[in-house]
Amino acid sequence: NEICLAMGNKTERNEMSFSRTILITGGAGFIGSHVVRRFVRKYPSYLVVNADKLTYAGNLENLTDIADRENYRFEKTDITDKKSVSALFRKYPFDGIIHLAAESHVDRSIDNPDDFVMTNVAGTVNLLNAALSAWSGNTENRLFYHISTDEVYGSLEGGGAFTEQTPYDPKSPYSASKAGSDHFVRAYHNTYGLPVVISNCSNNYGPNQFPEKLIPLMINNIKNNKPLPVYGKGENVRDWLYVEDHAAAIDLIFHKGKPGETYNIGGGNEWKNIDLVKFLCRIMDRRLNREEGISEKLINFVKDRPGHDLRYAIDSSKIRNTLGWKPTVNFEEGLEKTVDWYLSNTQWLQNVISGEYVKYYEKMYRNR
Ligand code: NAD
Ligand code: TYD
Repeated sequence: NEICLAMGNKTERNEMSFSRTILITGGAGFIGSHVVRRFVRKYPSYLVVNADKLTYAGNLENLTDIADRENYRFEKTDITDKKSVSALFRKYPFDGIIHLAAESHVDRSIDNPDDFVMTNVAGTVNLLNAALSAWSGNTENRLFYHISTDEVYGSLEGGGAFTEQTPYDPKSPYSASKAGSDHFVRAYHNTYGLPVVISNCSNNYGPNQFPEKLIPLMINNIKNNKPLPVYGKGENVRDWLYVEDHAAAIDLIFHKGKPGETYNIGGGNEWKNIDLVKFLCRIMDRRLNREEGISEKLINFVKDRPGHDLRYAIDSSKIRNTLGWKPTVNFEEGLEKTVDWYLSNTQWLQNVISGEYVKYYEKMYRNR
């Protein structure tokens, strides 16, 4: 079983010699790359297969440090393509699936909902079908873990927080497509007995996030002395969680979560956008040796996002009480680490913000 095959510079261990074979979809994206890295490093006896289409948001540069590990494989796969998905399941004997691949940006979903329906809903159903057929008759020690968002619960207009019992009320094409995928995952559990688990997490931040999302976009603009586009009055509230804390929760749920259950994951760290942007400006002033208060002058209130959800907040007591998870990185420390990562990974940022990004930015922010 320990036969090794030489593949380019990488030595590939025989696939039959691993204790488990795990499929991670969307592993070249922001959260996915942290999950892949964690699993590849922490579980050398697992074969980790990263299947990703490499859209604008997928970037193999996120994984250069583990790309040569013998328990890692990359498979360029579009989950909307049934044939590619079937071929992947014929090639590997998956016993666990962690499904992160998605179109993930609300503003893009408003501009073009179709890709969100195709990848988030149809792509998820393709994976469910493939898992069902691969595991027919034997679902023991198998798990389909679907990664979702707190945005499926809609917008909190007053106090309180989303629990696992909060009725779904998605408001944007993005959250509607994620809600649709969650419903399909539960329906496959209920109808066909597929072992599934779902987690719904709040806003993540950290290294490797594509700079269309609030925090890296602001870091990049502050660095380049560009206006900081705050939507509306900046009164909207998000609950921020450091990406590695999310990856730790995913690890725990994958190994200890109960099939059929849902777990909410959140940072217990609510910030109004305007307060967050000002906090970030102060950190950036220190890091860039700018006079305190200088970066804040770049703040520019722009036209609001249509249908902008006012507030998200997560009640994560279920995962805390039943699985013992809690966030470990406080916000100031997490933001400082994130700022330092973006300031020292200039080539990564440069590669990501060239070409397509320039066109995207022009189009999205021109009329705001
Ligand atoms: P991301 O946009 O950074 O990465 C998505 C990845 O999916 C990319 O690598 C992309 O290439 C890949 N992908 C897209 N379409 C694909 C397709 N058709 N086939 C195969 N791969 C495809 O997203 P992210 O922020 O890392 O989010 C990952 C998951 O976590 C998503 O399911 C998202 O809904 C969920 N989530 C994100 C957050 C957050 O704050 N970012 C919070 C909660 C849940
Ligand atoms: P975002 O990072 O897109 O995440 P989500 O919409 O999924 O919560 O946005 C976070 C918050 O920041 C949201 O309230 C919208 C706001 N926002 C801005 O004010 N300006 C921006 O340029 C962006 C991208 C977001």
